Amino acid sequence: MYAITIPEPGGPEALLWGEAPDPVPGEGEVLVEVAASAVNRADILQRQGFYDPPPGASPHPGLECSGRIAALGPGVSGWSVGDEVCALLAGGGYAEKVAVPAGQLLPRPQGLGLKQTAALPEVVCTVWSNIFMIAHLRPGETLLVHGGSSGIGTMAIQLAKAFGAKVAVTAGTKEKLERCAELGADILVNYREQDFVEEVRKATDGAGADVILDNMGAQYLDRNVQALAVNGRLAIIGMQGGVQAELNILNLLTKRAAINATSLRARPLGEKAAIVAAVREHVWPLIDAGHVRPIVDREIPMSDAAAAHRVVEESGHIGKVLLVAP
Ligand SMILES: NC(=O)c1ccc[n+]([C@@H]2O[C@H](COP(=O)([O-])OP(=O)(O)OC[C@H]3O[C@@H](n4cnc5c(N)ncnc54)[C@H](OP(=O)(O)O)[C@@H]3O)[C@@H](O)[C@H]2O)c1
Repeated sequence: MYAITIPEPGGPEALLWGEAPDPVPGEGEVLVEVAASAVNRADILQRQGFYDPPPGASPHPGLECSGRIAALGPGVSGWSVGDEVCALLAGGGYAEKVAVPAGQLLPRPQGLGLKQTAALPEVVCTVWSNIFMIAHLRPGETLLVHGGSSGIGTMAIQLAKAFGAKVAVTAGTKEKLERCAELGADILVNYREQDFVEEVRKATDGAGADVILDNMGAQYLDRNVQALAVNGRLAIIGMQGGVQAELNILNLLTKRAAINATSLRARPLGEKAAIVAAVREHVWPLIDAGHVRPIVDREIPMSDAAAAHRVVEESGHIGKVLLVAP
């Protein structure tokens, strides 16, 4: 098969399209013939040499894909050759074929094209596991999503609205904030011009956000805690603003607040399968019904993954950038 390889870490030009051994599905795995994959921030870190695949994972980048099942490994039931699926991956999506644990497969939702479906698994599983399974966002509560126009952000807005929450977002341009509003965001904060702590307090009668989904890590830690409501929950999923920060614990104590941080890729197979099962039960019906949809910025041929990485690194996108297999 052909796949993207990274012989040496570096800039986007480090991504090379070339021949690679075909993956062989092991016990409990299926072989998927890939229709499309999508770019995630973590792929950029992997390309730069800062985020190696976990032990046993494919060396090729790509944390999600869509495609058709081409073969079943031993011990797989409930899926058939030819099924149209999308999959959460620990790697290997930037390739013509990938082996996937059956517990990480989801059926192609009704009404969506197979390629588009590649934009779903990583963002839906990350948003569902953090906002709903860990932070337990409830109807009527306020969610603050940093990077509202990102792949993650566009899904977080839609899901939180579908479950009856009020949504605040940060973004760096007026155009991106407008797109967030179209998706349902109620409170819009331009992080380049406004203070999100102040804006969220103003919009919630001083209460603050019940749940915050954070991509910035260290840079926003103290201000995120300031922006939380009493009994608030901060879910950290990214480190775009660094990894080391100081925190005034008093702010956390007085608010009886909680901080969680997770990485989906490194979670054990059983935990990923439980997240995927919960997503299939709670989120897939909303996608089937057209209430929640993948936001696709553009499609780029997989062989030109370098161009796709440039777009994402420059934040020139809204939603997801798809990589379409030949
Ligand atoms: N832990 C996990 O399991 C997990 C899984 C998936 C993703 N993630 C993380 O989730 C984040 C989003 O992922 P993605 O793939 O959706 O990324 P993406 O589409 O590339 O988006 C990155 C976002 O960061 C925003 N941003 C940059 N500087 C900011 C600032 N100072 N304040 C607020 N927002 C700022 C950008 O906003 P503008 O474009 O408006 O500047 C953009 O929306 C990344 O940090 C990624 O690593 C974590």
